[in-house]
Amino acid sequence: MCGIVGYIGHREAYPIILKGLQRLEYRGYDSAGIALYDGNNIKLSKTKGKVADLKERLENEITTTGNLGIGHTRWATHGIPNDVNSHPHYSNSGDLVIIHNGIIENYEAIKTELIKRGYTFNSDTDTEVLINLIEEVKKKQGVKLGKAVQIALNEVVGAYAIAVFDKNKPNEIVVAKLGSPLAIGVGDEEFFIASDASPFIEFTKNAIYLEDEEMAVVRLGKKIKIRKIKDDSLVNPLMQELKFNLEQIEKGGYEHFMLKEIYEQPHAIRDTYRGRLLAKEGIVRMSGVENHKEKFLNANRIIIVACGTSWHAGLVAEYIFEDIARIPVEVEYASEFRYRNPVITNKDVVIAISQSGETADTLAAIKLAKSHGAFVFGVCNVVGSSIARETDAGAYTHAGPEIGVASTKAFTTQITVLTLIALKLAKEKGAISNSQFHYHLEELELIPEKVEKALKSDEHIKSVAKTYKDAANCLYLGRGYNFPVALEGALKLKEISYIHAEGYPAAEMKHGPIALIDEHMPVFVIATKKGHYEKVVSNIQEIKSRKGKIIAIVTEGDVDVKKLADHTIEIPETIESLSPLLTTIPLQLLSYHIAVMLNKNVDQPRNLAKSVTVE
Ligand code: AGP
Repeated sequence: MCGIVGYIGHREAYPIILKGLQRLEYRGYDSAGIALYDGNNIKLSKTKGKVADLKERLENEITTTGNLGIGHTRWATHGIPNDVNSHPHYSNSGDLVIIHNGIIENYEAIKTELIKRGYTFNSDTDTEVLINLIEEVKKKQGVKLGKAVQIALNEVVGAYAIAVFDKNKPNEIVVAKLGSPLAIGVGDEEFFIASDASPFIEFTKNAIYLEDEEMAVVRLGKKIKIRKIKDDSLVNPLMQELKFNLEQIEKGGYEHFMLKEIYEQPHAIRDTYRGRLLAKEGIVRMSGVENHKEKFLNANRIIIVACGTSWHAGLVAEYIFEDIARIPVEVEYASEFRYRNPVITNKDVVIAISQSGETADTLAAIKLAKSHGAFVFGVCNVVGSSIARETDAGAYTHAGPEIGVASTKAFTTQITVLTLIALKLAKEKGAISNSQFHYHLEELELIPEKVEKALKSDEHIKSVAKTYKDAANCLYLGRGYNFPVALEGALKLKEISYIHAEGYPAAEMKHGPIALIDEHMPVFVIATKKGHYEKVVSNIQEIKSRKGKIIAIVTEGDVDVKKLADHTIEIPETIESLSPLLTTIPLQLLSYHIAVMLNKNVDQPRNLAKSVTVE
């Protein structure tokens, strides 16, 4: 997720764009850049680092600024964060510049063709390919920039929100959108372009939000014309009067970043499997695994090292890898693994999971594993992070920046990546039938819309949260694939509401914890239809007979548990191995609402940091 800003009008572009980038830094902050038209040429400056670093650099470089410009703050997906990979990007001629938020999946094929036609590339990005494709179309077909953008976008596969301008036509900016947000602020004799309204809300409250597969040529003195990219048909622009204030815009209209990120999960999961999950073709494409598959296939075992929520994702992966790919897996707290003098050999594959890519214990565990000759694979969310650079190979989650300290979309996108790896290896090993493989891919492809459906229970979940917000202690129970989700649900409640909670395998109750059950103990039980259902029902009966309060996460249409539980929360049906992607949603929302009702600092809970970079 990156931030894009553009301006064309009667004011100086530079200060507006710079301030707009500062407002969009929550969307991405590993590098930033600006391109300005100064009346004759394009002045472009970009740097790895934050917008503040760009500002410092610009103060020496920017002598004059015109009234046209674009700016970008990056959250890397292709190409590590550095100056060259930062946006904006020039076309080869230097006439065109682009900024882009999204992923062009078929950029490699396009790049190969452009190289054959004499184009050269400075960066590793998909974006630089797109601007040169636009230039090639413009040159070869002799069309204007708007038409060239339209033709080029009909050749790309992926997601984008782009802004492009031509130094030879400095009275317009061409914009287009598919899968990433793009808002146009409409002022008096001026236009603003941005990923959301925060860069222009102080100048105008009139905004047009492009829909997917729409584009526009934003030209001074002209009314905006919006067209469908595919068939060039005109679209009536829907002008909206903004009611949000600045802070609400940064949170996408949600009260907290955590709630925004819970609701971003359908998009984040889709972005994470985009270009990797090809269900129709029956393919899982993951170059980081493909290039080292012998390591995985010949491994004695896979050791997963992580902390916190990422460790819970590792536990889910243990069930998936052993159940589907038949590969032995051990899951280790990185903080324990690094000090317990573990037996590690060069026949071990270590998977390190980390949202931030900076967790000190996980980094130390990686170094220990590498010192014993193990092959280390990283699953990170931050491109170019320390862990991403330390590991031998890896696969990124494309969750976008996770601002809330309590991890939500990182958890579900980590499970998405790990599921894809397990399925790919299972297929390579012949451990899964073709039909089962295809079935898993098709079910995984449906998960985003099933998460959307699970989110629709939010109001009901809020009412359940109200009933239990004053509990002193809570228990979370799950079996099989959902035992790790019980642990994760308990962690979510603990870390943002400060209520003590514990997760257990449901069958463990009789080995001690059942002594805790009385009428004051809320017990959250994951009781999905295919997850040892009958056994979980008997666990629920044991709790009920001791007056425990039961809140059950059930498969939609469930009847039996409904008769027993004090509250039930329904989720759509899916195959058991994918159920953690759905059962975690109500538990995230429950902890969120309880914490809000208790007036806790949901996004920055006491004593916690988003990334634990020290021991
Ligand atoms: C989870 O909600 C917490 N924020 C915390 O447990 C976190 O998962 C842990 O610190 C690991 O962080 P990482 O994924 O960035 O390595």
